[in-house]
Amino acid sequence: NWTTGNVIDEQVEAIRQQVGDKRAICGLSGGVDSAVAAALVQKAIGSQLTCVYVDHGLMRKGETEQVEKDFVAATGVQLKVVDAEERFLKALAGVTDPEEKRKIIGREFIRVFEQAQAEIIADEGPAVEFLVQGTLYPDVVESGGGTGTANIKSHHNVGGLPEDLEFKLIEPLRKLFKDEVRMVGQELGLPEEIVQRQPFPGPGLGIRIVGEVTKERLDLLREADAIAREELTAAGLDRDIWQCPVVLLADVRSVGVQGDGRTYGHPIVLRPVSSEDAMTADWSRLPYDVLSRISTRITNEVKDVNRVVLDVTSKPPGTIEWE
Ligand code: XMP
Repeated sequence: NWTTGNVIDEQVEAIRQQVGDKRAICGLSGGVDSAVAAALVQKAIGSQLTCVYVDHGLMRKGETEQVEKDFVAATGVQLKVVDAEERFLKALAGVTDPEEKRKIIGREFIRVFEQAQAEIIADEGPAVEFLVQGTLYPDVVESGGGTGTANIKSHHNVGGLPEDLEFKLIEPLRKLFKDEVRMVGQELGLPEEIVQRQPFPGPGLGIRIVGEVTKERLDLLREADAIAREELTAAGLDRDIWQCPVVLLADVRSVGVQGDGRTYGHPIVLRPVSSEDAMTADWSRLPYDVLSRISTRITNEVKDVNRVVLDVTSKPPGTIEWE
């Protein structure tokens, strides 16, 4: 009979058998799947596992710290953090096309990850033979053939890279669904914020700025996003919403008035959706008072933003993300 305890015991045993006295590496994305996979493998083989976290500078406020501090504190995992913000910003300079952004972020990510991997392999210690991946049951089914769905966006998932065949794979979540993964994560003592995290795209805020991605714009969007998340959480709406992209229309300006002056700032779009699987979605009917608080706070607290708009489009025809 299925209990999270059984799943953990079984996997820990299987991973120990599989890995023996060799070493394994695991890329952390900040997401649920890679975190739970890493925590399970850590429980099984301890310091034979090294995790790699590539900080591409496109994360939301507090997310990198959550991995660096909270995740490490909860698991005791050995973590190598690569600060690659400048490199990503440089590669993204001048780029506005969404698919091109994805390609660049994916490419840079693989390069940085491979560099970190090479450094770990060069360290003293047993051979690094294994790569841990947070593949879930629906991923297995989806990639198991069939025609699949039309590929509208070239999804780059930071957790699942690189496709390096020198490694043998450890995929401890292969038989689990998302809600089961969350239960396992909870049982393993991972922080609530990681276990209950809503979906967030691999390319991060890089595809939530319509226009060129710059450090200044990222900082601005991070502030707006943090306010929206704070208010949604305070209103107890996290479980009702699938996710709520907060988008900066960096190439759009509109006239406003604040204090006793005219402003000419950027709009922020709120895109709260409800969904079962992200294939289709409906816009969430958020309470007006919550929307009002978010709007007031963002326009008051975030420099250069003078308007907050609500996206009331379902998917289809709109995708969840704006890019
Ligand atoms: P769309 O915008 O296609 O998004 O309706 C569906 C779901 O996928 C997420 N998403 C991504 N996830 N890499 C990812 O790992 C990506 O490039 C990417 N683009 C969209 C989106 O947040 C939503 O949950």
